Amino acid sequence: MVRVFLIGFMGCGKSFKAKLIAEKLAWTFVDLDGFIEEREKMTIPDLFRRKGEVAFRRMEYDALRALANRRNIIVATGGGTPCTGGNMDWILDNGTSFYIRVPAKELAGRLKGQQHKRPLLDGISSTELYPAVRQLLEVREPYYLRADHIIPEGPECVDSICRVIRSGRSI
Ligand code: S3P
Repeated sequence: MVRVFLIGFMGCGKSFKAKLIAEKLAWTFVDLDGFIEEREKMTIPDLFRRKGEVAFRRMEYDALRALANRRNIIVATGGGTPCTGGNMDWILDNGTSFYIRVPAKELAGRLKGQQHKRPLLDGISSTELYPAVRQLLEVREPYYLRADHIIPEGPECVDSICRVIRSGRSI
């Protein structure tokens, strides 16, 4: 197991958890959004504003594939990464994936007040947030559920993922 991908909806804590896992295993943490921001010298909200979502998805597609030769990395993907461009197939072929599953209501609660940081949620009022999250999650979950491992979020989550990685249990 040389590449691990954490996938899941915005607000499920992919980056935070990936960082912890990387520390525990002494692997390298890669944040896919951060990688794109560095390459493009622009923040994700600016990229969406100036270049649009289609261009962002192309960058995301390229950034993902740029990881093909990296080893011992824990990658925090973006919430939409597995859902476009055949990316989930690529993830399944090139590493071991974990879907961090969080109910829509909990996600909406966490994302409240954070809408401006997420271009796809920008402009959605707090009261509209839960239905919007639920609807988008419904569309995306079939992709997420293809992950090699489905991990319900909770206090054991990081340790469970580390255990699976250490045991070398792959796809
Ligand atoms: C997106 C999620 C974001 C970022 C971009 C698009 C999405 O990442 O990639 O704003 O389509 O869900 P996080 O899941 O880290 O917020």
